[in-house]
Amino acid sequence: MDGMTGAGPAHSAKAGIVLFGATSGIARAVAARFAAAGESLILIGRDGAALEAMALDLEKTLGAKPACIVWDVLDFPGHAARFRALTTVHSLKGVFMAAGILFPQDECDRDPEKTRLTLETNLTGPAVILDMFAGYFRQRGSGFISCVSSVAGDRGRGKVLAYAAAKAGLSAYLAGLRHRLAGTGVFVQTVKPGFVRTRMAAGVKSRLMAEPDRVALDITTAIRDRREVIYTPWIWKWIMLIIKSIPAPVFRRLKL
Ligand SMILES: NC(=O)c1ccc[n+]([C@@H]2O[C@H](COP(=O)([O-])OP(=O)(O)OC[C@H]3O[C@@H](n4cnc5c(N)ncnc54)[C@H](OP(=O)(O)O)[C@@H]3O)[C@@H](O)[C@H]2O)c1
Repeated sequence: MDGMTGAGPAHSAKAGIVLFGATSGIARAVAARFAAAGESLILIGRDGAALEAMALDLEKTLGAKPACIVWDVLDFPGHAARFRALTTVHSLKGVFMAAGILFPQDECDRDPEKTRLTLETNLTGPAVILDMFAGYFRQRGSGFISCVSSVAGDRGRGKVLAYAAAKAGLSAYLAGLRHRLAGTGVFVQTVKPGFVRTRMAAGVKSRLMAEPDRVALDITTAIRDRREVIYTPWIWKWIMLIIKSIPAPVFRRLKL
């Protein structure tokens, strides 16, 4: 499958919310909450069959099947044309970006390609794509951009060297975008989850592991309330405050 399916050629009557990385554990839970609120959705991801299955499932709640678009965040030459095609067919009110990838750092150490993929999937791709959404919403004077970064971006750590660097860059990008779009009517939100029970966190054992639906509730509530930076669950705000305040010589000795 390539390109658009499901919505038909006519311009959608109701402005939709785009879910990028729609098949992610977190985005699925966010989609379910948006669907329950009656929002019109457009699902974007790199696995067409998984998107179609998700759309059929959401149809049960929405009464209409969301459109599905196959779009890889690493397809840099194709981004502009795909964005034009998207906005020709659909009118948009917001975008939720959840695409991301995490390799164990020792795999990145052995294979520089994985470091590149980590930086491009978590930072370069989302930034290039969100730039286009920012331009679209700015022109209309409204819209929201909500993007999943991570608590990992709050302080560089050897155990997740490439991933933390990418998420730090993404958080800085979103802060800059918020600054750039101030006063335009466009709302930009940074989401910083801790551990969330999804494919990405498979194998992680932590008492702090959160369920995707809990995180999705935090995200959709914060979009409604226009909260610019959220930690989810909230406890991570305080955990990261402590972690950021640990002096470097002490931090180096900790096995975090
Ligand atoms: N789970 C956690 O503990 C945690 C904590 C903090 C932040 N996050 C962030 O939360 C976001 C969602 O992750 P998740 O936890 O829900 O994990 P997930 O289920 O593994 O989702 C990752 C998503 O990224 C998509 N993706 C990966 N490479 C892509 C590419 N090149 N182009 C388009 N999409 C691509 C995947 O698509 P496919 O389905 O095709 O693989 C999948 O939909 C990520 O940004 C992640 O970094 C997660």
